[in-house]
Amino acid sequence: MSMGLFHFWDDCSRSVAYACKRRASTLTAMSTTPDHDPLRHEWLPVANASAICVQQPLAFTLAGEKLVAWRDTAGQAHVWRDRCPHRGAALSLGQVVGDTLVCPYHGWVFGGDGRCQRMPAHPGFEPPAKAAARALAVRERYGIVWACLDDPARELALFPEYDLPGTRCIHLAPLEVRTSAPRLVENFLDMAHFAFVHGGILGDLAHTEVRGYAVESSPQGVVARDCFAWQPAGFPGQEGDEVEYVYEVRRPIVAMLTKRTAPRPGAVPEVLHLLLALAPVDECRTRAWLVSVFDGNTSASDQALHDFNADIFQQDVPIVESQSPRWLPLEPGAELPQAADRMSIAYRRWLVQGGWSYGTSLGRAARQAAA
Ligand code: FES
Ligand SMILES: [Fe+2]
Repeated sequence: MSMGLFHFWDDCSRSVAYACKRRASTLTAMSTTPDHDPLRHEWLPVANASAICVQQPLAFTLAGEKLVAWRDTAGQAHVWRDRCPHRGAALSLGQVVGDTLVCPYHGWVFGGDGRCQRMPAHPGFEPPAKAAARALAVRERYGIVWACLDDPARELALFPEYDLPGTRCIHLAPLEVRTSAPRLVENFLDMAHFAFVHGGILGDLAHTEVRGYAVESSPQGVVARDCFAWQPAGFPGQEGDEVEYVYEVRRPIVAMLTKRTAPRPGAVPEVLHLLLALAPVDECRTRAWLVSVFDGNTSASDQALHDFNADIFQQDVPIVESQSPRWLPLEPGAELPQAADRMSIAYRRWLVQGGWSYGTSLGRAARQAAA
């Protein structure tokens, strides 16, 4: 993949169209084999860490697969396929007993590694190795439990800002949105909607222009710098001010922004690092996590900081759910970009070059062909 610095007024819609055409046949072939879907090798958020408790296993769906998350009495979180290998009952209906999960149907007892330890109908029988629930790789980081549907392609290390000293970290409960994950990433990267969707907070009708910014792509992701905007209340409780954003796509469906107030003599700038991490329920439904790291002198309460980003996100929901199609269309000419869309154009191209198809028109076409 080539690296490059692209300037705002270049016409890169042509190049993304070209990249889409060039890669479409390859992607179609790749995506027909689910095991080769890059999505399956990404770390995906499954629950806030505080939501997985010893008392109650948690059922959820990730990319069409029914899964269960549970926590043993030693505090270790587990994510398994929500299906007992005996007769297919949902393990999420079972009970945590010590360091085991007990199936609700015939009481098979599964240890943390997924292996069945005991079959109550046959107390003296040692269960074979194949009597096992399918356990996924799990990590607990940034206040979130993450899982990977297959072998992880890399270690989970995508939000170092979370560990900055002296900051305040605020977690939102995950929100399910009826759209694809890539559509949500694009919305997160978009500045041109501030005045229309977040009027009085992130923009107003007297400041609709999106000024020039630079976009840089590399195999590791896409970064947009020098993104300036005037915002009426860009931080909780703040008066109108100029703010600067840096946007980053760190993984195909994980994005981050850093926003800071303009430097003022003698004043500490307010800084917000905001992580958007997405978990597809299916191609067109997505659960979204937002984790905010506030770094500055804000006197706002934790509740006010929470509500600030929760309210902004709620304003986005009806818009993104109205977009048609819900998956990200990658066919040349399917949508008409404007110059302010430089970042999303680079994101689309980066997805295509990386072979990503889930939640896009390429993924849909491939899955329909395979059906
Ligand atoms: S279905 Fe789980 S023990 Fe029978
Ligand atoms: Fe928005």
